[in-house]
Amino acid sequence: VFAHVVKAPEDPILGVTIAYNKDPSPVKLNLGVGAYRTEEGKPLVLNVVRRAEQLLINDRQAKLSVLVSRVKEYLPIVGLAEFNKLSAKLMFGEDSPAIRKNRVTTVQCLSGTGSLRVGGEFLARHYHQKTIYIPQPTWGNHPKVFTLAGLSVKTYRYYDPATRGLNFKGLLEDLDSAPSGAIVLLHACAHNPTGVDPTPEQWEKIRQLMRSRKLMPFFDSAYQGFASGSLDVDAQAVRMFVADGGECLVAQSYAKNMGLYGERVGALSIVCNAADVASRVESQLKLVIRPMYSNPPIHGASIVATILRDKNMFNEWTVELKAMADRIITMRQKLFDALRARGTPGDWSHIIKQIGMFTFTGLNKEQVAFMTKEYHIYMTSDGRISMAGLSSKTVPHLADAIHAAVTR
Ligand code: LMR
Repeated sequence: VFAHVVKAPEDPILGVTIAYNKDPSPVKLNLGVGAYRTEEGKPLVLNVVRRAEQLLINDRQAKLSVLVSRVKEYLPIVGLAEFNKLSAKLMFGEDSPAIRKNRVTTVQCLSGTGSLRVGGEFLARHYHQKTIYIPQPTWGNHPKVFTLAGLSVKTYRYYDPATRGLNFKGLLEDLDSAPSGAIVLLHACAHNPTGVDPTPEQWEKIRQLMRSRKLMPFFDSAYQGFASGSLDVDAQAVRMFVADGGECLVAQSYAKNMGLYGERVGALSIVCNAADVASRVESQLKLVIRPMYSNPPIHGASIVATILRDKNMFNEWTVELKAMADRIITMRQKLFDALRARGTPGDWSHIIKQIGMFTFTGLNKEQVAFMTKEYHIYMTSDGRISMAGLSSKTVPHLADAIHAAVTR
């Protein structure tokens, strides 16, 4: 009965790793998936995460979150209460009036993707507008997540290939002509794949336009701490939209900023205009989650709560996070210098201007295919490279490959 099933293509991002794993070349380099690597090219588990895990296993004075983790009980449908509270504070600020007035409901979800999906399904069931506008380009999974959640997906202009910067005029025009009430997906910081963010002044204009047109902001925050190195600065766009008293949704991920990729830990917050609304919204979120996966996993959320609740551990985390962000910035400079040294044709300054984990190189599909075939360098076909996968040792190899691809 399944004989008619056709083979599906690999995922455009995760499939890059599958192709990389099959390549026997000793010089192969995986710059596909956005996952941090050390200077030695190894995955990194933060020291503070290891310390939190030790506490989860050993601490006799453990608090509730630690205990539930140790005994492996079910969490409630909305996840670990302390994790949710601390995640909301991290996103909206220590003394956010919206939190104080209980206008925010936060539920633990399966990292950023799971938070987007739960938020999307909630909107499809309970929000009057079913159209979501996503930036062009955006993370390849966004249109799939929202379509399957029951929303209709449209795009707004975002990136200008000519300037390798923001198409601010196009963005405003497209949002201005979206139907009133439409949902708009915004990358909170470190836009994936372009590494191009609006300035604070541009964010303010976007906010004004969106509020006047009653558009519903849905933020995807996957890189808090990775754009500027500061958790607060990277939350500013979101906080701007919350400070005006209006509603919004935020999907938060701890994959990158705590290196908890495989723990699938994240949160969905829905900011409402009153406490009683927030409490009813939460009751409906439970109805979305329960038939989907019942309740979320304990371990990752316990690690995050252990770190966020303790001042010392929190500070230790920010230092380690900053070190990751700084190493990526160093890689940007090294790659830029290496291309300059080779006299590679083109203006490569966008490598140092773009922010976050990725550089949107401007290389086309054929050039990417050439670099994979001849240099064993793996990246997504849109020319995005994960700077987090690069090291001082591998920069020359990448620069050689880019040089050969553009001078061919
Ligand atoms: C990426 O864009 O590489 C990451 O967000 C990982 C993923 O799940 O695609």
